[in-house]
Amino acid sequence: MKQILSADQIREGVRELAEKLSVAYGQRPVTIVAILTGSLVLLADLIRQLEMPLRVALIQASRYRTPDEPRADFVTTQASLPNLKDRDVLVIDDIFDTGHTLVEVLAQLLMHEPASLRSAVLMRKSDRSEVPIQPDYVMFEIPDEFVVGYGLDYEDRFRNLPYVAALEPEDLASE
Ligand code: IMP
Ligand code: MG
Repeated sequence: MKQILSADQIREGVRELAEKLSVAYGQRPVTIVAILTGSLVLLADLIRQLEMPLRVALIQASRYRTPDEPRADFVTTQASLPNLKDRDVLVIDDIFDTGHTLVEVLAQLLMHEPASLRSAVLMRKSDRSEVPIQPDYVMFEIPDEFVVGYGLDYEDRFRNLPYVAALEPEDLASE
């Protein structure tokens, strides 16, 4: 596997994002909505760097995908969203690829009439966006490769890697 982001780089990226968020929100309460499952590791690291009052909510959004078949049906289920009306809401996701996931989730959350709605992603793949919006915060720009680790999976594997790596054909062969 080819390492794309080291554990140290990610740690520094999380620290920088936390600083930007503390400038943006000050001590206002923030509701973080994490898109499952890929953003779980980022969620755990990020919230421990934040000092404003926080609520955490989880939303499931997934499209079946493999490196060969990146598009398929889109599914979201709202496990248990707290009341978001008049709240400052920050959505976090692992990666902004085509952008359809974020567009879909933001549209659903807007129906709850939050006071504000922003988004942050760990990574954005260059030149892949198919939507007219961008995340408010992008921690890292990466090349257009299928990546795993730090929460991201390939068929539910590799989420536990402490770094982000590009998956190469020989990684799949060596099972
Ligand atoms: P989008 O809707 O195309 O922006 O895709 C976003 C979602 O697809 C992310 O939340 C990830 O779950 C998944 N995804 C996109 N690219 C990758 C990748 O390279 N590795 C693992 N998952 C990915
Ligand atoms: Mg995801």
